[in-house]
Amino acid sequence: MGIAADIADDWHAALAALAWQVEAGADETIGDAPVNRYDLATEAPKQAARPVAATPAEQVGSDPFEVARRAAERAQTLDDLRAAITAFDLCELKKGARNTVFADGNPKARVLILGEAPGADEDREGRPFVGRAGQLMDKMFEAIGLSRTSPDAETALYITNVLPWRPPGNRDPEPAEIAMMRPFVERHIALVDPAVIVVMGNTPLDALTGTRGILRARGNWSQALGKPLLPMTHPAYLLRNPSAKREAWADLLSLQARLRG
Ligand code: URA
Repeated sequence: MGIAADIADDWHAALAALAWQVEAGADETIGDAPVNRYDLATEAPKQAARPVAATPAEQVGSDPFEVARRAAERAQTLDDLRAAITAFDLCELKKGARNTVFADGNPKARVLILGEAPGADEDREGRPFVGRAGQLMDKMFEAIGLSRTSPDAETALYITNVLPWRPPGNRDPEPAEIAMMRPFVERHIALVDPAVIVVMGNTPLDALTGTRGILRARGNWSQALGKPLLPMTHPAYLLRNPSAKREAWADLLSLQARLRG
């Protein structure tokens, strides 16, 4: 037999061997480089990565608060938490939202600002407090030397919301929505571990203290999750009621004094 016939025989033999392996259930090809199986045997068996986010199957028919609580508990880092929130399917608001708005600013900041929920601008951009109210808020905090863009923990802000999805037509969040997302909010604050929490408006005040009445509560320091908490009126309220800016300024000075103290 000539060389051409040998090659043809090899080719047919290889094809037949492959067909036999496929029939026998082989479903993977092997690499070109040889593998020393003795070396592999000495390697520690790899731990299967523990999924942080609840799978859709784990969520169906479950109590939303419980699913959120378990998913939040598993999150060991802010990236884990972002993934867990993004995978959470039991809040109806998610269906109408363009983006999951997680947070902005410096995670090392001493001051964490907790808002209510994204509006249209935030939903579009995927970042909290970027619309008119957010721009006013940036100016207010810059007036006491704090900024979300500061790389220095002493002068930085970290900003997030109770709800990561925009409520349709900017309606107020419902109590059930606040309650189901609370485990994520609590975990978020625990992971950032700020020195001080500032809540902007009734929704975050309610989420962290179970009380409402921001106009009475503003400026009065209390405690939540083991941290000093300062309630302030929401910047959207200040846009509608400019005369309330005086009190907001007093609250900012109180925050500044607390941080210096
Ligand atoms: N209002 C909020 O409470 N949060 C935002 O991110 C934007 C507006």
